[in-house]
Amino acid sequence: MKNAIVTYETFHGSAKKVAQTISDKLNCKCINIDTPFEAEDLSEIDNVILVFNFRGPYTAQLTKLYLSRVKEQLKTKNVILVGEGLFSEKEFPIVAEEIYTSTPSRTFNKFFVKGQLRVETLFPEEKALLDKFSQLTGMEIKDMGELDINRAEEVAEEIEKLVNSEEFQVVKAAADENKEETKWVCEVCGYIHKGDNPPEKCPLCGVPKDRFKKQ
Ligand SMILES: Cc1cc2nc3c(=O)[nH]c(=O)nc-3n(C[C@H](O)[C@H](O)[C@H](O)COP(=O)(O)O)c2cc1C
Repeated sequence: MKNAIVTYETFHGSAKKVAQTISDKLNCKCINIDTPFEAEDLSEIDNVILVFNFRGPYTAQLTKLYLSRVKEQLKTKNVILVGEGLFSEKEFPIVAEEIYTSTPSRTFNKFFVKGQLRVETLFPEEKALLDKFSQLTGMEIKDMGELDINRAEEVAEEIEKLVNSEEFQVVKAAADENKEETKWVCEVCGYIHKGDNPPEKCPLCGVPKDRFKKQ
């Protein structure tokens, strides 16, 4: 599946694993949103799959920055958002709606995968943020969850079905329909022929094809 691309935003590798599960299924590129150079020209791409991890107020920060750079291109693409986090499944539609409103696309779908937290891997800034969160909510910060890789595989299968569905193919068909046809004008009688080449002879006045000029 060459006309798809998967990007991911990760801090501890879970969202990357989800992204790779999807890109393996679609047999397409998988690009870290930290260095999105290969994901900035979408001219050959119809399906853009964006995977990000939940991170409190900083959720999807880099993904949103990337989206702002490819906003114009995305209008004609199929966008699929995959959120990965511990407890924000209910907030996910709000984040998704915000993204779709600021960056409208041809089609828009979303999936959530449960992630995991391992306290010993946290950076000091993350620990500080989570400690504040803990003070506010009373939630104890400890190892939590287990990346739901089975769900990631299910999501990959659902995405594969979507990108192969009729609804997702319309982009190409519409582009072909809009393609301007070449016009050939008979210099003798003014007959207009549409096509890549002029006709063998003019059906109106009978002159050979070398009397047709490209319009
Ligand atoms: C600083 C921080 C903030 C987080 N905020 C949220 C959150 O708001 N909602 C949520 O569901 N999970 C939250 N998580 C959990 C992460 O989404 C989870 O650990 C995820 O698996 C991390 O993905 P990664 O391995 O790709 O970085 C947070 C984790 C950290 C470290």
